[in-house]
Amino acid sequence: MEHSDPQTLDSVYAAPGSPSADAVRLNAATRAAKLRARASKLLLFSLAGFGLSIVAMAVTSSAGLGTILFLGSALVAFAGAGHSVAALTTGLGAAPGGVGIASAVGLVFGNLFMTGLGAFAALLSTMTFTRGRQIRSRGRILLPPIEQGDAWTGAGLSSSGPIGIVDTDDEETRRALAAQWRENGRTEHASVAAFARLTLDLMALGAPPDLVADASRDALDEIRHTELCFGLARAIDGSSESPGAFPEAARARMLPRSRTLALAQLAVDSLVDGALHEGVSARIIAKLARRCEAPAIQTILKEIAADEGRHARHGWDVVRWCLAEGGQSVAHALEGALRALPKTMSSPMPDAARDGRWERWGIMGEELEAAEHEATRADLERRVGEAIAANRSRQSAFGYGNVSVG
Ligand SMILES: [Fe+2]
Ligand SMILES: [Fe+2]
Repeated sequence: MEHSDPQTLDSVYAAPGSPSADAVRLNAATRAAKLRARASKLLLFSLAGFGLSIVAMAVTSSAGLGTILFLGSALVAFAGAGHSVAALTTGLGAAPGGVGIASAVGLVFGNLFMTGLGAFAALLSTMTFTRGRQIRSRGRILLPPIEQGDAWTGAGLSSSGPIGIVDTDDEETRRALAAQWRENGRTEHASVAAFARLTLDLMALGAPPDLVADASRDALDEIRHTELCFGLARAIDGSSESPGAFPEAARARMLPRSRTLALAQLAVDSLVDGALHEGVSARIIAKLARRCEAPAIQTILKEIAADEGRHARHGWDVVRWCLAEGGQSVAHALEGALRALPKTMSSPMPDAARDGRWERWGIMGEELEAAEHEATRADLERRVGEAIAANRSRQSAFGYGNVSVG
């Protein structure tokens, strides 16, 4: 028996157990169809997760519940999106010409992932707000305890005259005012740890020496601010109190292992804590320095305002460096962060200070905080857009990098 037809010969001489070429094509097509169906289901699953996140944030009045729902549904959404990309890539890759489509789909999901990551990081960093750069654990701001002792009160301030550094002899007001300056001091003290964390992050990512030096010098500024706040509080109420041991400072968040994700995280942190929060602080304190009626406090405010303005500029420097290093991935994370930033924010303050009557003693009211936040946020949106555009045009000459997580 002769077999002259090549296709028939293929069938006859195929190794035992090996499928024919047609069978292979059929299997690939079937597998691709199954994968596409699975990918579609997962995509729907992913979109439902994102929808649930938005609904949860819109309908709940409980910040804690809203956060839990958001985190849960965001995790579901990210898992769904990740599975979809994997399934689509495999399925389309099995079909002729599918590789290009698969790459495009992967790129779209990569962009979405980085945007979501930036939004998520910004959301965590703005769940609670207080002045300056802070350290957090799962979004919660970490602050040191206060204990008796004069270790951090040595800023050379002393109460002078029968009334002292503030023009009221009402004991209750003086105690409350001193307590608020100690609260300010706690945030300054925590900022020392935040800049130490930034230094470690920059070192881990191979940042240039000027950025590392700025972060180190800024930490020294925050030590000085802490001493000024606690020293002023002692001058107001005569009590020697200082920040105590602060072990939580060593347990603040670490950067992801992936360099791309780490750059995106650092960029968003520097945008929110550096450019925004330190920028807002600088503006508020500069205004307070003009409104303050106590000369000793005014001197302190002027010094801190100048420092915080410099810290905000350093935050922008870090954002630009991360953009230059991480390219499109970091740009998407920053755009996601911008979308997630709250329109308003308010930090804890004594009820007596809310209407601005303590601004004569250097403690802000609600109206001042809201106005300066709005102004800083508007400035932030404009400058992020400019930074991304400048980086894009700079990198376009060398081929603008696509999203990659490595
Ligand atoms: Fe500070
Ligand atoms: Fe600062």
